[in-house]
Amino acid sequence: MRLISSSDWNAFLSCLDGLLDTPQVQSMRSLPHHPGVNCYEHSVFVAYVAFRLGRRWGLDYRACARGGLLHDLYLYDCRDRTAHPGNQCLDHPVFALRNACALTHLSKLERNIILAHMWPLALHLPRSKEAWTVSLADKFCATVEVFQLFKRLKLRAVLAA
Ligand SMILES: [Fe+2]
Ligand SMILES: [Fe+2]
Repeated sequence: MRLISSSDWNAFLSCLDGLLDTPQVQSMRSLPHHPGVNCYEHSVFVAYVAFRLGRRWGLDYRACARGGLLHDLYLYDCRDRTAHPGNQCLDHPVFALRNACALTHLSKLERNIILAHMWPLALHLPRSKEAWTVSLADKFCATVEVFQLFKRLKLRAVLAA
Protein backbone atom coordinates (compact mmCIF):
# COMPACT_ATOMS: atom_id res chain seq x y z
CA MET A 1 0.00 0.00 0.00
CA ARG A 2 1.34 3.43 -0.91
CA LEU A 3 0.96 5.93 1.97
CA ILE A 4 1.14 8.88 -0.40
CA SER A 5 -1.12 9.05 -3.44
CA SER A 6 0.56 9.86 -6.74
CA SER A 7 -1.60 12.98 -7.11
CA ASP A 8 -0.46 14.28 -3.70
CA TRP A 9 3.15 13.49 -4.50
CA ASN A 10 2.96 15.16 -7.90
CA ALA A 11 1.33 18.25 -6.35
CA PHE A 12 4.16 18.34 -3.83
CA LEU A 13 6.85 18.01 -6.50
CA SER A 14 5.29 20.76 -8.59
CA CYS A 15 5.77 23.16 -5.66
CA LEU A 16 9.51 22.51 -5.61
CA ASP A 17 10.33 23.90 -9.07
CA GLY A 18 13.01 21.27 -9.74
CA LEU A 19 14.93 22.11 -6.55
CA LEU A 20 14.96 18.43 -5.61
CA ASP A 21 17.28 17.63 -8.54
CA THR A 22 19.83 20.37 -7.94
CA PRO A 23 23.36 19.28 -6.93
CA GLN A 24 23.10 21.33 -3.73
CA VAL A 25 19.94 19.58 -2.54
CA GLN A 26 21.15 16.17 -3.73
CA SER A 27 24.44 16.67 -1.85
CA MET A 28 22.48 16.53 1.41
CA ARG A 29 22.23 12.78 0.80
CA SER A 30 25.85 12.47 1.93
CA LEU A 31 25.33 14.43 5.14
CA PRO A 32 24.19 12.55 8.26
CA HIS A 33 21.41 14.20 10.21
CA HIS A 34 19.52 12.07 12.72
CA PRO A 35 20.39 8.40 13.43
CA GLY A 36 19.91 6.44 10.20
CA VAL A 37 18.52 9.46 8.34
CA ASN A 38 20.49 11.77 6.11
CA CYS A 39 19.90 15.48 5.68
CA TYR A 40 18.19 15.02 2.28
CA GLU A 41 15.71 12.49 3.66
CA HIS A 42 14.97 14.70 6.66
CA SER A 43 14.46 17.75 4.44
CA VAL A 44 12.10 15.96 2.03
CA PHE A 45 10.18 14.57 5.03
CA VAL A 46 9.80 18.03 6.58
CA ALA A 47 8.88 19.57 3.22
CA TYR A 48 6.17 17.00 2.55
CA VAL A 49 4.65 17.19 6.05
CA ALA A 50 4.70 21.01 5.90
CA PHE A 51 3.15 20.91 2.40
CA ARG A 52 0.29 18.68 3.61
CA LEU A 53 -0.31 20.76 6.76
CA GLY A 54 -0.12 24.02 4.83
CA ARG A 55 -2.59 22.79 2.23
CA ARG A 56 -4.98 21.52 4.89
CA TRP A 57 -4.84 24.79 6.80
CA GLY A 58 -5.29 27.00 3.74
CA LEU A 59 -1.78 28.46 3.85
CA ASP A 60 0.82 29.14 1.17
CA TYR A 61 1.67 25.44 0.87
CA ARG A 62 4.16 26.10 -1.92
CA ALA A 63 6.22 28.22 0.49
CA CYS A 64 5.84 25.51 3.13
CA ALA A 65 7.20 22.90 0.71
CA ARG A 66 10.07 25.05 -0.59
CA GLY A 67 11.03 26.40 2.83
CA GLY A 68 10.78 22.92 4.29
CA LEU A 69 13.06 21.47 1.63
CA LEU A 70 15.70 24.17 2.11
CA HIS A 71 15.47 24.72 5.87
CA ASP A 72 18.56 22.60 6.62
CA LEU A 73 20.60 23.40 3.49
CA TYR A 74 23.67 24.24 5.58
CA LEU A 75 25.78 21.77 3.54
CA TYR A 76 28.43 20.57 5.97
CA ASP A 77 28.76 17.55 8.21
CA CYS A 78 27.28 18.73 11.50
CA ARG A 79 29.45 16.18 13.37
CA ASP A 80 32.59 17.91 12.09
CA ARG A 81 33.50 20.45 14.76
CA THR A 82 35.86 22.18 12.32
CA ALA A 83 33.10 22.83 9.77
CA HIS A 84 32.24 26.14 11.43
CA PRO A 85 33.32 27.81 14.66
CA GLY A 86 29.95 28.63 16.23
CA ASN A 87 26.99 26.85 17.75
CA GLN A 88 25.36 24.42 15.30
CA CYS A 89 21.90 24.82 16.80
CA LEU A 90 21.97 28.60 16.51
CA ASP A 91 24.01 28.99 13.34
CA HIS A 92 22.82 26.37 10.87
CA PRO A 93 19.63 28.24 9.84
CA VAL A 94 21.82 31.19 8.85
CA PHE A 95 24.07 28.97 6.71
CA ALA A 96 20.99 27.27 5.24
CA LEU A 97 19.48 30.63 4.30
CA ARG A 98 22.72 31.80 2.69
CA ASN A 99 22.95 28.63 0.58
CA ALA A 100 19.26 28.68 -0.29
CA CYS A 101 19.48 32.31 -1.47
CA ALA A 102 22.41 31.35 -3.69
CA LEU A 103 20.37 28.48 -5.14
CA THR A 104 17.05 30.15 -5.90
CA HIS A 105 15.03 33.31 -5.46
CA LEU A 106 13.27 33.20 -2.10
CA SER A 107 10.32 35.29 -1.00
CA LYS A 108 10.47 37.16 2.31
CA LEU A 109 8.11 34.51 3.68
CA GLU A 110 10.41 31.68 2.59
CA ARG A 111 13.50 33.40 4.02
CA ASN A 112 11.86 33.66 7.43
CA ILE A 113 10.70 30.04 7.26
CA ILE A 114 14.33 28.94 6.94
CA LEU A 115 15.78 31.38 9.46
CA ALA A 116 13.16 30.77 12.16
CA HIS A 117 12.75 27.00 11.96
CA MET A 118 14.78 26.39 15.13
CA TRP A 119 12.65 28.64 17.33
CA PRO A 120 12.64 28.63 20.37
CA LEU A 121 16.16 27.16 20.50
CA ALA A 122 17.38 29.92 18.20
CA LEU A 123 16.28 33.52 18.44
CA HIS A 124 14.63 34.26 15.09
CA LEU A 125 10.87 34.31 15.54
CA PRO A 126 8.55 32.67 12.99
CA ARG A 127 6.61 35.59 11.45
CA SER A 128 3.91 33.74 9.54
CA LYS A 129 1.63 30.73 9.87
CA GLU A 130 3.76 29.08 7.20
CA ALA A 131 6.93 29.56 9.29
CA TRP A 132 5.19 28.13 12.34
CA THR A 133 4.02 25.21 10.23
CA VAL A 134 7.51 24.34 8.98
CA SER A 135 8.92 24.70 12.49
CA LEU A 136 6.24 22.33 13.76
CA ALA A 137 6.85 19.89 10.90
CA ASP A 138 10.58 19.97 11.62
CA LYS A 139 10.03 19.06 15.28
CA PHE A 140 7.54 16.34 14.38
CA CYS A 141 9.85 14.78 11.78
CA ALA A 142 12.89 15.03 14.07
CA THR A 143 10.96 13.19 16.78
CA VAL A 144 9.91 10.45 14.34
CA GLU A 145 13.54 10.10 13.21
CA VAL A 146 15.14 10.14 16.66
CA PHE A 147 12.78 7.44 17.87
CA GLN A 148 13.69 5.28 14.85
CA LEU A 149 10.15 5.40 13.44
CA PHE A 150 11.46 6.64 10.09
CA LYS A 151 13.12 3.25 9.69
CA ARG A 152 10.35 1.14 11.21
CA LEU A 153 7.64 2.77 9.09
CA LYS A 154 9.85 2.39 6.00
CA LEU A 155 9.52 6.10 5.25
CA ARG A 156 12.67 6.06 3.13
CA ALA A 157 10.78 4.12 0.47
CA VAL A 158 7.60 6.17 0.95
CA LEU A 159 9.45 9.44 0.41
CA ALA A 160 11.76 8.24 -2.37
CA ALA A 161 11.69 10.74 -5.18
FE1 LIG B 1 17.53 22.64 11.32
FE1 LIG C 1 15.41 20.14 10.29
